[in-house]
This record gives sequence, structure tokens and C-alpha cells, in this order.
Amino acid sequence: MKSISLILLGCGGVGRQLIHNIISCRPLHAKQGVRLRVVGVADSESLLVSSDVLTMEFDDHLLSEICRIKLNGSSLPTLATSGSCQVFSSSESTKKIVDIAGHLVRSTGLAVLDCSASSDTIERPLTSSMEDYDKLVSHPRRLRHESTVGAGLPVIVSINRLLSSGDSICLIVGSLSGTLGYVMSEVEDGKPFSQVVKTAKILGYTEPDPRDDLGGMDVARKALILARLLGHRINLESIKVESLYPKEMGPKAMSVEEFLANGLSLLDDNIEQRVRKAASNGNVLRYVCVIEGSRCEVGIQELPKNSPLGRLSGSDNVLEIYSRCYKEQPLVIQGAGAGNDTTAAGVLADVLDIQDLFSS
Ligand SMILES: NC(=O)c1ccc[n+]([C@@H]2O[C@H](COP(=O)([O-])OP(=O)(O)OC[C@H]3O[C@@H](n4cnc5c(N)ncnc54)[C@H](OP(=O)(O)O)[C@@H]3O)[C@@H](O)[C@H]2O)c1
Ligand SMILES: *[C@@H]1O[C@H](CO)[C@@H](O)[C@H](O)[C@H]1NC(C)=O
Ligand SMILES: *[C@@H]1O[C@H](CO)[C@@H](O)[C@H](O)[C@H]1NC(C)=O
Repeated sequence: MKSISLILLGCGGVGRQLIHNIISCRPLHAKQGVRLRVVGVADSESLLVSSDVLTMEFDDHLLSEICRIKLNGSSLPTLATSGSCQVFSSSESTKKIVDIAGHLVRSTGLAVLDCSASSDTIERPLTSSMEDYDKLVSHPRRLRHESTVGAGLPVIVSINRLLSSGDSICLIVGSLSGTLGYVMSEVEDGKPFSQVVKTAKILGYTEPDPRDDLGGMDVARKALILARLLGHRINLESIKVESLYPKEMGPKAMSVEEFLANGLSLLDDNIEQRVRKAASNGNVLRYVCVIEGSRCEVGIQELPKNSPLGRLSGSDNVLEIYSRCYKEQPLVIQGAGAGNDTTAAGVLADVLDIQDLFSS
């Protein structure tokens, strides 16, 4: 049986789901001759590691306890009383993880799963400077990040398969924000933009401050990850991003409450006019990223109503990829682009995919 040792960073919605999935997949993985050994779990405050990472792993009871206490608001150190694990503060945790990696690299290897919502590892892995990016991808198979674009949707893997078979990708158009996908498909029916955004907020589709979605930076970061995957050596600053609210309504100028109460409805007319103009051409508006040649843009585009992106309704992500092999009709990837379960599944599949890098 091959063992893959893991340290999990972050035990929020995604991290806890991942722990559940690791436990429930044990019989399946055993059939494949693989065993996942969790030797450490971290949250924003502490790192819990097994007392001897070489010989001891967290058993399923402890893993379930971690999920339970994180859910009820207790801290990880509550579980360190048994002597089978040690606790480190977050300031010590990076050094400790590097130590453990050093120990395990000579025996079995170590996978570090970053399911945190934090820029503490490095500022925005994959979307910061090219220098950081080059370091991260210098061992291409060792860095896996399927869940960074479209959550668990097989976006990165599909693009990599096209690239490695020599197909040339000429255009990617993608609706990569569930929130903006929902908003743009709802305004198509004539509902006011402000009302749709408020409904999206009630449905839990938006960030607490909807401007975090409407500003487009989240889509821009995903676009950057895709553009870099295609070999474009660009930075976030070189992406043209259309924000759906003006600077005068930004977080520095007004509170969320003020924006929702007074700002948002001032944007209705402009969107309504654009929706009508698009409709007169048989088109609809979608908030998408467009990556074509060296051009990478994020914003509202008019697209044919009768296209995969035009047919989008609800909060799905949709990606159209045009290449030599998919010239007339694009390769289309569509499905839920968020959710704890699909995101955790993307991470787990990445781990299983690199099992050959681990020695038995
Ligand atoms: N949920 C989704 O649908 C989805 C989809 C795609 C991508 N993602 C990405 O997946 C990541 C996790 O999302 P989530 O929904 O699980 O977030 P979450 O529920 O907010 O959980 C984040 C976890 O990260 C931990 N954390 C924060 N700083 C840390 C640090 N320095 N070291 C280790 N752990 C740290 C937090 O610790 P505390 O418990 O102490 O606060 C928490 O356990 C995020 O980057 C998110 O953007 C999520
Ligand atoms: C994801 O997990 C978080 C934290 O446990 C929870 O609040 C949220 O409802 C979950 N989301 C979904 C879609 O299940
Ligand atoms: C959470 O569970 C732990 C362990 O059973 C318990 O000691 C603690 O009081 C609980 N905390 C809360 C906030 O419910």
C-alpha cells in the first residue's frame, strides 16, 4: 500500500469537507492501493501535528473531532491533550511544516493542501509577481491547483491536456463568477440590476460586501491563472477590468449599507439600456473573461443568446475554449463553480493524481 502524507492548511468549509471525503473514500483508495495519512492540520491560529510524523498519523476519530470542534467554535489546541499530537502557534507553523517536509522527503514525501483563506503562505499564490509564479511552477507536476478556477470543474486539467497534445488554444471566454453569472442572466429578463444584486445577496451568492464581486477582481485573478497557464507572462495590473460600480461608490466613499440603499439603484438605467441594445442584436450580456492572443480582459460582453454562455442561467460557471481541434464549436465546461464539496473534490482528485510522485 502506498502512503501519501498530508498536511492540511485551513479547516473551514472546504477543509472540513475534504477531511470528510478523505475518511469516506478510504475503502475506494484502498482498492487503488493508496492510503492518505493526515499528519497535520492548521487553522489561522495554530498547527496540530502528529507527535511522530514518520510513524503516527491522525486517526479517523481525531479527524472527525477536528471537524466537530471547528464547527462548534473551539480551537485546535483543545484536542492536543492526548499526547499523540503537538500544537504550534501560527507564527511557528511555517518553520514546522518545512521541518516536517524535510523529514518526510527522504522517506515518503509530503503533500501540503492549502484550503485556507489567507495570504500568509505567499501573497495570493499564482496571481502575485511572475517571479513567485515561476518558483511555484518550477516543478510543474508538484503544484496542483485545479480548484483555483471554477472550483472542482475540470478546467485546468482540460486546458493542460489540450496544451500537452499540441493543440493551440486561440480563445477562452468564461463566466467564472457564480454571482455575476446569476446577476447577468437575471437582468436579461428586464429585472432591475439593483434588485437582482440584492436578491443574490439574500440567496448567499455574494460576498458580504457585494462590491467584492461587482468589482471583477476575483474574475481577473482567475483569468490571470488561465492566461499564465497558456504561457502569457502577464501580471494582474495588465488585465483590463471593468468594474460594475464607479469609484465614487467604492468602499472608501460609502459603507455597504449606503451602497445597497442609495448607490446601487443609480446603476440600473445604464445596465437596462445595455441589455436592450444587446437584445436588439439577438445578444445577451455576460460578465466574462476573454483571453485571446496576448489580450486578457474582464468585463461585460455581448454574446449570442444561442451560445453556451448565452444560454447560461443561474450561478453555474461556463467556459468556452476555442482551439485548433475545437474551432467551430468550442469545448465547453459548465457546472457549479463554487461549493465546499466540489472544491474539496477538486483538491482530493489533485492529490490522487500525483500519487506516483510518492514512494511506497
Ligand atoms: N467555499 C467555496 O465554495 C470555494 C470555492 C473555490 C475556492 N475556494 C477557496 O478555498 C479556500 C477556503 O475556502 P473556505 O470556504 O473553506 O473558507 P473558510 O470557511 O473561511 O475557511 C478558511 C480556513 O482557513 C483558515 N486559515 C486562515 N488563515 C490561515 C493560515 N494562515 N494558516 C492556516 N489556515 C488559515 C481559517 O482558520 P480559522 O478557522 O482559524 O478562521 C479557516 O479554517 C479559500 O481560499 C477560498 O477562496 C472556496
Ligand atoms: C460551506 O461551509 C460553510 C462553513 O461550514 C457553510 O457555512 C456553508 O453553508 C457551506 N456551503 C455550502 C454550499 O454547503
Ligand atoms: C465544543 O466541543 C468541545 C468538546 O466537546 C466542548 O468542550 C466545548 O465546550 C464546545 N464548545 C462550544 C462553544 O460549544
